[in-house]
Amino acid sequence: MPYIFNEDIIREIRESNDIVDVISEYVTLKRTGSNFVGLCPFHNEKTPSFSVSPSKQMYHCFGCGEGGDAISFIMKYANLDFVEALKLLANRANIVLDEKEANVDSKTEREKEIILNINRETARYFFDNLLDDNNALKYLYNRGINKKTIKAYGIGYAKNSWDGVLSFLLKKGYSEEQIEKAGLVIKHSDGNRYYDRFRGRVMFPIIDTRGRVIGFGGRTIADAQPKYLNSPDTPVFSKGNNLYGLNTAKKYSRNRIILVEGYMDVVSLYQNGINYSVASLGTALTANQSKLLKRYSNDIYICYDSDNAGLNAASRALDIMKEEKINAKVIFLPDGKDPDDFIKENGSNRFEHFLNNSLNYLDFKILFYKKRYNLNTLEGKIDFTKEISNMLKQIESPIELDAYINKVSLETNISIDAIREEIREKQRGQTNSAIKDKYINTNYRNTNKYNILPVKYNLEPGHLMAEKNLLNFLIKDKKIFDHIKDRFRPDDFLEQVYRRAAEIIFDIYNNEEEIHQDEITIHFEGEELEKLKEVINLESDFGEDEKIKAVEDYIKKINYYELKIRKNDIKEQIADIQNNKARIKGDVEKLIRELCLELIEIDKELKLHQ
Ligand code: UTP
Ligand code: MN
Repeated sequence: MPYIFNEDIIREIRESNDIVDVISEYVTLKRTGSNFVGLCPFHNEKTPSFSVSPSKQMYHCFGCGEGGDAISFIMKYANLDFVEALKLLANRANIVLDEKEANVDSKTEREKEIILNINRETARYFFDNLLDDNNALKYLYNRGINKKTIKAYGIGYAKNSWDGVLSFLLKKGYSEEQIEKAGLVIKHSDGNRYYDRFRGRVMFPIIDTRGRVIGFGGRTIADAQPKYLNSPDTPVFSKGNNLYGLNTAKKYSRNRIILVEGYMDVVSLYQNGINYSVASLGTALTANQSKLLKRYSNDIYICYDSDNAGLNAASRALDIMKEEKINAKVIFLPDGKDPDDFIKENGSNRFEHFLNNSLNYLDFKILFYKKRYNLNTLEGKIDFTKEISNMLKQIESPIELDAYINKVSLETNISIDAIREEIREKQRGQTNSAIKDKYINTNYRNTNKYNILPVKYNLEPGHLMAEKNLLNFLIKDKKIFDHIKDRFRPDDFLEQVYRRAAEIIFDIYNNEEEIHQDEITIHFEGEELEKLKEVINLESDFGEDEKIKAVEDYIKKINYYELKIRKNDIKEQIADIQNNKARIKGDVEKLIRELCLELIEIDKELKLHQ
């Protein structure tokens, strides 16, 4: 059972986390006028189009359209769910989340229930409308869609009326506010009246994999603008996280799914016997949508319009899926057609022919860049070859690499040797594996002792004092060693000299009862020796009991500072990963998510230590 926090605590968390501060921890922001801008963390860009507004406490990217508040930023950035993001921000602001406050039977859950009910009843209403409306039916029949397909997708019709949906739902007992929350009506600018959002449109209910109607898309049957209109984001619907047709495709897919651009493509493919396609909802494919696809299929095909816009979108989708470790293929239809047009004209056999000849990542990219660069010019050939070499450098199999080099050489007439050299050059410059090693192959995570900390830190005075005193006690009294040896280790000392001294001390105590100072000092000289002497010469006149108490206190302090350093370290790592995202192979999002979850853990512990 998920727990949900009440509105007040959520508001408190929002108010205590200034969005500029929060985002600055992950993205370098610069002030411009009253806003801040930076490089968008959600897509790759070289000039900043990511803007943060302190007055609105919102962020927005003009490049990719992402936007929201501090909570949604954290959710998206660290790939956390709402509650996890809330916890992170609560910790950040030192707000204690009492899990008793979690209220299972909460307002938001009930609100979602109501919206889902509204949607279900409305889908039914639209469906009934369609069967009654000759114009709308004729529109679909003209587009080659028959009753069976209409039923399979629950396609309906929103009458060309300002209050068809509104009065239907009011009669059912829902309030105007509830209907507005469901995104089905819009409040008039005069403040009181509501009117239907969808008018004169063929309606496609968007149904999730649990069979719930979460939103709608509507196509005008006249020539109204926009051609397609979607539900706005509501408590049960967000565009970037869902796919149209997944509930149907899931039933039939036999582990194969085709991703298309439009509602009509999905429906028309179904009508022609291809019943396993889905559409992203009028946006560029998102990472979350890719994850969703991956959950339902191993074999994913992109079949977008084969015009320029479609090719660009396919190229991006291919890259997004690659990030999610999906080896999608591209079905490239001839003559700039979309799947709907194509299958209507050519039938499913021809479509399947193209499906069987789909392009893998590299084949598609070669085709894509061939179209982008003019291979009839020398310049075009060079640019093309450079672009492709950049991708070829990642191929690990020499045989595969050879085949592609041959292919590029044939396309361009550039010699095989030159291409090979170009690739080698690029491999040399590849920071990729170095960065990956740094973050992925180290196993510092999930160790309780954060003992592999780099030692570049300037230790805080309180921390240094604690280390000095503890070391002094250790040298002079084996009882202290016996008291702490199971939970404190030499590399818990962060000061280099102390750490090395502690290693020697632990070694000796493991064999002897007593330490002679020069057994330690003999290993040091110069400045280091001075440091050590300073420790040895510390005087203390604690009694036995007081000593033990003091030792506990030192250990607590040291652990506390360690955690603080660890916390900064993780933050730096996240920023670093963010800045080098494009060059890091592997699941960057997962990595960041892990680091963020670790941050949450550390924050918890820090609180215990306070
Ligand atoms: P297209 O413009 O390619 O439409 O948009 P289409 O599927 O070929 O539609 P028909 O054949 O003219 O009916 C593809 C998808 O982009 C989104 C919709 O999801 C649509 O299915 N879109 C398009 C919008 O959200 N709004 C628009 O105004 C247009
Ligand atoms: Mn079309």
